Amino acid sequence: MTPQQIQLVQSTFNLVRPIASAAADLFYQRLFELDPSLRPLFTGDMKKQGAMLMSAISMAVNGLDRPDSIIPAVQGLGRRHVAYGVQAEHYTTVGAALLWTLEQGLGEAFTPEVKEAWTATYTLLATVMQDAAAESMSLAQNSTRPQTQDDNQSQNRLGHEVFPRAHE
Ligand code: HEM
Repeated sequence: MTPQQIQLVQSTFNLVRPIASAAADLFYQRLFELDPSLRPLFTGDMKKQGAMLMSAISMAVNGLDRPDSIIPAVQGLGRRHVAYGVQAEHYTTVGAALLWTLEQGLGEAFTPEVKEAWTATYTLLATVMQDAAAESMSLAQNSTRPQTQDDNQSQNRLGHEVFPRAHE
């Protein structure tokens, strides 16, 4: 992302902050219109969920000029989404709902440049989340591989005990 795009995303998100709660409502309304099968994945209070979504986007937007400061948190978010039943293809629908919501909220300020800058931001977040999710799923798969005679270590790549040694 160019410094100009980062600036555009940060300045337009400042326009959304005062209407964050309404924007979150609009976002979920649109998301469930686009794909009603996503509704059952959300089991908690949607007001709280909307506030958490907005605060995560805010954290990411504020950190765009220092990506190293946000990437670990975004990776953690991606890994947690596996447990929520989220699949890679859902990210496209969420991206479409997010851009649509920004268009509604920003009106004329949603210029083609702003749209492009937000698309780049969402693509970045979604890619980091999906990569971390895929990585955690492949680690989980390795950890369920039956143990063989050749295994001479009991830890996976994260250093977690996968095959606890029997007490001798
Ligand atoms: C940039 C992309 C996304 C961001 C910033 C985001 C943000 C969040 C945050 C902050 C939470 C609160 C829980 C936590 O922190 O672990 C959450 C939960 C959740 N998100 Fe996302 N999310 C994104 C993408 C998606 C996608 C693509 C889906 C697919 C439908 C999704 C579905 C969910 C669900 C089902 C929950 C749990 C709801 C519940 O417990 O009721 N999210 N998300």
